[in-house]
This record gives sequence, C-alpha cells and structure tokens, in this order.
Amino acid sequence: MAHTPSDALVFFGATGDLAYKKIFPALQAMVKRGSLHVPIVGVAKSDWNLEQFQARALDSLEKHGGVDRAAFQTLRNLLRYVDGDYNDPATFEAIRRELGTCERPAYYLAIPPSLFGLVVRQLGHSGCAQGARVVLEKPFGTDLASARRLNEILHGTFDESAILRIDHYLGKRPVHNMIYSRFANSFLESFWNRTHVESVQLTMAEDFGVQGRGGFYDQTGAIRDVVQNHLFQIMTNLAMDPPVRADSESIRDEKVKVLRAIPPLEIGNIVRGQFRGYRSEKGVSPTSQTETFAAIKLEVNSWRWQGVPFYIRAGKCLPVTCTEVVLRLKRPPSVFLSSDIRPNHFRFRISPDVTFGLGMMVKAHCDELRGESQEMLLMREERADDMGAYERLLRDAMAGDPTLFAREDYVEEAWRIVDPVLNAGGPVCDYEPGTWGPDDACAHIVPPDGWHDPTITTAQAAAHAA
Ligand code: BG6
Repeated sequence: MAHTPSDALVFFGATGDLAYKKIFPALQAMVKRGSLHVPIVGVAKSDWNLEQFQARALDSLEKHGGVDRAAFQTLRNLLRYVDGDYNDPATFEAIRRELGTCERPAYYLAIPPSLFGLVVRQLGHSGCAQGARVVLEKPFGTDLASARRLNEILHGTFDESAILRIDHYLGKRPVHNMIYSRFANSFLESFWNRTHVESVQLTMAEDFGVQGRGGFYDQTGAIRDVVQNHLFQIMTNLAMDPPVRADSESIRDEKVKVLRAIPPLEIGNIVRGQFRGYRSEKGVSPTSQTETFAAIKLEVNSWRWQGVPFYIRAGKCLPVTCTEVVLRLKRPPSVFLSSDIRPNHFRFRISPDVTFGLGMMVKAHCDELRGESQEMLLMREERADDMGAYERLLRDAMAGDPTLFAREDYVEEAWRIVDPVLNAGGPVCDYEPGTWGPDDACAHIVPPDGWHDPTITTAQAAAHAA
C-alpha cells in the first residue's frame, strides 16, 4: 500500500475556501508538470452540477495564480463532481460510482475537523476505504485528548500507513531543506549542540491580523494555530539527530524523539498577548482571552540539547511577516577584555526569502581592540517554477510518500507539550498592532541577548538584493 500511487483523488469540501485558494491552483500545477493524470472527484453539499464545479475551478485559477489554458483544459476533463450530504450513505455510493474501476483512491478531507469522524466512518461503511488512503487538513484535534480520539476513529477505518496529516509548512521547500542543509554540511554539525549553542530562537511573525477568520481564530489562538504544528515542525527539523537513512520513517522517528525529550510547557514559560482591536474583529468575542501572540520557552532534554533553552514566538499584527531561526553560540573566553563581543550566531530565514546568515565578530576600523558583529549572507533565490507547498504535498500524498506528513505519535507528542497551557487561562496582555507583542512588563520570555529583530535583516536582505 505504502508508495503505491493513488489512481483517483476525491476531495471533500470541494466548493470551500481552501479548495478555491489552494487546491485548484495546486492541481493545475500538477497537471502542468505532468504529475496528475487520474480522475479528480470533488464532493460538497452545494446543489451544484459538474459545469458549476468546473466554472468554480476556472474562477479559482483566475484569482489565484492564473490560468494555463492547456493545463486547465486537461484538468477540466479530469474533474468529476458529487453533490451530497456527508451524513447520507447515498453520497458515498455516488462517489463509488464516479470512481468506476479505480481501486486506490486518495480521499482528501478539506473540511472542518468536526466532520472528519463522520466522513471517515462513512468511507468505512460504504466500502470506499478499501485500498484507499486519507489526507487530512490541519488542525488535527484541538488538544491531546481530541487528537487521540481522532486517531482512534481514523484507525478504525485506515491503517496508519494510509493516513496523511497535512501541515503545509512541511510542504514548504525551505522547511524540508533544513534537514538537507544540516546533514549535508559537516561544519554545522561541529557546533550544533549544547557544547557550543547558548540558545535557540524561532520567530514566526505576521504583519496582518486574522483576515476575516475571527470566528475560527477565536476558538484557536496562536499556540494551536501555528506553534503546536508549523513551529514545532521547524523546531524538530532544527533539533533532530541525523536519521540513519533518508526514508520517511527514519526521518519521522528522529523528529518524534525531539518532542519526546521536551517536558510539558509550564504556565510560567509562556507569554500570551492580544493585539488591540482584536476584540472588534468579526466573529471574535468582545471579552475574548484568545492569544494572537505567544512567546514560549522550552527545554529539549536530549543528549544534544540539554540545558539549551529554546524560545519560540509567533504573532499576528507584528512589524513584519517573516519566519526565521537563530542559534546563538556561547561567547568565547574573554581574551580582549572588551565588553562588545557579541555571540556568534547562525540564522536561517525560511520566509519571505531564504537566507543563511553566519554572524561573527570582526575588528572595527580603529586602533583599539574593538569589534563589530557582521553577518556572512547566503541568499537563495526562489525560482518562478518552484513547487508550492500544496502541490508538493498533494503530489506526495498521491504517490504515498509520508515523509512530509505528521505521524500519529508526532501529533500526540506535540499536543502533550502544549496541553497544560491550552486551557489554563492566565493573563493575556494587550499590545499595539505593529509592535513585537506585549511590552517589557508582561514579556518575561526573552532569550539571553534578546530577541533577534528580523526587520533589521529584512532591510539588509533588501539592500543585498538591490
Ligand atoms: C495557517 C494559519 O496554518 O498558516 C494562519 O492558520 C497563518 O493563521 C498561516 O497565517 C501561515 O501560513 P503561510 O504559509 O502564509 O506562512
């Protein structure tokens, strides 16, 4: 089953937002690259027919990425549509009919998580699940207990090897390339450990708010929305040990080991913030205590990392949109008796540009023994034909390659870590939109030598590219 290509793609939620913004563009890109030839069955309850569904696909492409006439024509011919209620067994009979002789479909659940259980059970009862695999959108549960329940439901119908849990950050090339860069460069390995690293910090900053998703976001908050999934995926790529082989399970085993080494997050090791104005957003409670900013401190009690604090911050309405990682090294012994020595660092920016920065002290232009911190920069240009995250994930899902998907034990470990703070309440401090979260009085989670300011390096990067 694993690594046997799917011979059809069935996606639920076919008339929804995700399909409109991400899935149709990914499907067209796959057709264009020659990696998609099988029937694609959209399923939804919208009282639509196939022509309306095809028109929706065209409209989606016009708005999101553009129409490639030839690729769209092929895509259009591959599309099928089933309109029906997910509660109704007749919907699943209709899917079976549309699938014709296909024997190994991939079911992609681009629907609200509250419907996952229902659809999975229906797939099981109707016989549709035979020989199939299932792909689920994030969020996978809302805490440890709900993730476990969901895993149980899934395992009632599908084998773990046939379950692919999407975290679109894993589909981003720079995120996966972290593993390549780490283990294809021996000089990195020489300092990538507790002997040399003083602290690690990850920032995922967004300069926009909840963009009309207030109803969803208010039930979610920053920890559930991006920390437990996207940022933990980045953290585990950064902290994992070398896999013994490059296959999916060897890589996923190492990532889970990192999470296992992390004790549950203590309430004293989190700062929660909320941008001013959030409570007036549509769908948000006027008394909301949901965090739109979080900063946390974790320990990774592994042989490699014990004693090195890991700091993670994420937030909406911050000064810039950027995701990056900074490892600060320990200071050298003080030969020069000068206080201006800044720790060396290694910076890896994932977006909006892909940059590696190696920070080192160089002597200033003066006769005294004074220096300044400078960065050696390596920037990777994105290419116009680079594969988007959804294209890569759908391609791998159809091929049955689970490397870029979260495994059962991984999602449960990730929830275990954040579970204690999810419902613990605690203060949520206001911050002004366009600032770096709550001010000093509230913000006690700060790495030694402070948070790195990505706006400085954004400007440097822009100057470098000019
Ligand atoms: C989503 C979150 O998973 O990721 C959003 O729900 C967030 O709140 C988004 O904005 C960020 O993704 P990207 O690819 O734009 O960095």
